[in-house]
This record gives sequence, C-alpha cells and structure tokens, in this order.
Amino acid sequence: MRNILAVVLLISVWTLTAQERQSATQIHPGQVWNDANGHPINAHGGGILFHGGIYYWYGTHKIEGLSEKTFADGGIHCYASTDLLSWTDQGMVLSIEKDDQRSDLAFGCNFDRPKVVYNAKTKKFVAFFKLYLTGKGSETGYVGVALSDSPSGPFSYSHKFLGADSPNGSGDYAMFQEENGDLYHLTVRKPDKAFVVGKMRKDYLLPEKAYELCQGVTAKTEAPAIVKRNGVYHLVASGSTGWDPNPARYFTSKSLTGPWTFQGNPCEGVNPDNGLGKEKTYGGQSTFILPVAGRREAYIVLFDINKPENPYDSRSIWLPVTIKENKFLISWMDGWDMSFFGE
Ligand code: DGJ
Repeated sequence: MRNILAVVLLISVWTLTAQERQSATQIHPGQVWNDANGHPINAHGGGILFHGGIYYWYGTHKIEGLSEKTFADGGIHCYASTDLLSWTDQGMVLSIEKDDQRSDLAFGCNFDRPKVVYNAKTKKFVAFFKLYLTGKGSETGYVGVALSDSPSGPFSYSHKFLGADSPNGSGDYAMFQEENGDLYHLTVRKPDKAFVVGKMRKDYLLPEKAYELCQGVTAKTEAPAIVKRNGVYHLVASGSTGWDPNPARYFTSKSLTGPWTFQGNPCEGVNPDNGLGKEKTYGGQSTFILPVAGRREAYIVLFDINKPENPYDSRSIWLPVTIKENKFLISWMDGWDMSFFGE
C-alpha cells in the first residue's frame, strides 16, 4: 500500500513539475517562491530530506497575520519536488494544538527549525524541532521529536529532550546523519552557548550519551548547517543576534568534536533587494545545506530572511556552493538553476 502511495505521489509531483516548468525555471533567492498551486511556500527554518527519488522540504508554517511576539508558529509544513524548483504542497504534517493548553505543542510555543531524518532500521521518519514551551520563554530549550511512517506525514508528536547535559538544553541545532546511519545532534547549548555535539541512539529518539564540545567552534554560534565532503565536515552558521542578521561563520573539521578550523565568512556579493552583503548574510540566517542527489560536488545552502513582525512574509535564500581549494564559497545570484553545477 505504501509503495502504491509513493508511486502516486511521484507521478503527481512529475505531472505538476511539467506544468510548473513553464513558469519556474530558476531559483530566485530572497523572492516570494510560489508552490505548484501558486501559493507562497510557507516553510521557514527548514530542511530537506531526499527519499525515494523525491525531495521533501519541511519548515515551520508561519500563521498569517501573527508576529513572532504573538506566536506565529503553526507546526511543520511539507512540500515535495523532484527538481528542487517546483514544489507541491503536502500540507501540514504536524500542527500545534490550538485547543489544548496542556500539550507540549500548545499554541504559544516556539516551534523552530524542523529537520526530518529517515531511520532505515526502524523505518520511521523522525522529525526534530526546536521547542520552547508556551509561557516558559526561551531559557529552556527542548528538542521536540515526532514520528511518521511516511515522509509526507502525518507526524505524531512523541516527546521532547533537553539535548545537552546542561540544565537548560538546546538552542539552534543541526542533525547530521553519517552514511552508516549514525545520527548526531549539534547544538548551541543553553545557557552558556557553547557549541556541542551528541550522538543519538540507534532509534534516533534520544541522545545516547553525554555531549562533547566541538573544539574550535566559537561560542554563541547559531543557525548551524552541516555537510560532509571527502571526509571533511563543513559547518556554515551565524552569530547570535536574535532575529537580526549578522555575518555568516564557516568552520571545517575532520571530526565532529574538532578541532574545527575557522574559515571566515564564506559569502560574497550583495542582495540588491535590501542592499545587504556578507556583513549581514544578505539579510538571512542559515538553516540547511543540501547535497543535490546524483550530482558530484553540488551543494545548496539554505538561508531564511527572518521578518519577526510579519514572519509569514519571511523569504528563503537558496544559493549554490562553489568549491575553491576545498573550501566553500557562497556567491549571491539573482537567479540560478541546476546547470550551475554542470550539465
Ligand atoms: C536565532 C535563531 O537562529 C532563530 O531561529 C530564532 O530562534 C531567533 N534566534 C529567535 O530570537
């Protein structure tokens, strides 16, 4: 049954992709990005899972008309694509609870930066998200966990964990999955803002043991996005200035615990819409690095332009990586497509 559903989804994504190809031929960083139905994609602080030939984009759904102060987070919104240009709406795959104030996902919680990973052993899709409980402020940072049997959901909320051996837990984070399936949680620990890594259990539901310091990653590093290339981890991240943009920071290491080497700011160029360049990461903050399936040396860095007064209108910046002397360089482009990586 699940196989039939996957085939139906694949066919529908292909069909819509063909229609959409007429209009969406390029990625336009910082512009409104409509889904295949013509509605703005609503997936913020997100990440991408490639599964069964389909890319799934999961992000926080921001409720129209609300600000970050009045709690705009609505849960996880998912979109699917085969070409990374045209996205079909898969709907809300996990929603915050409007009516149950006792729930961990009660309206008013901060529900940020969802990332979904597939566990080949348990055959579960595991969604993680940064969770600040309703009414508790940002001092206690949990990692929420939800599970599904299908990449397009629905996900059921399972539990939360603190995510670092400190009383107050985890802030911005990344999940990194090794080729052998081992999963790591890298996070800015609260409240001291040291950057740490913990290995997850085989079922991915909880950390397996104590977290270790990522030696060489500056304290107060937020918005981590990580990928591994030829045995070297590349970490693109930001400083810690709330919703405001700051200069991106870039580190490399042969081990998750370090020593990490600071490689400076990987960005160059200017976003003509707001006049912001590398000193403010084009007005954005990193969230994910996507290796493009089936292409060598093809990585896309995803950023969000945060708009705390009107997060519904927050925009995505997707930019391709150029590799120079084994280092990542991210250059602003007004519009680009996959031919950037070669035909
Ligand atoms: C910085 C984080 O990177 C964002 O995702 C968001 O949580 C803001 N802080 C909130 O101030």
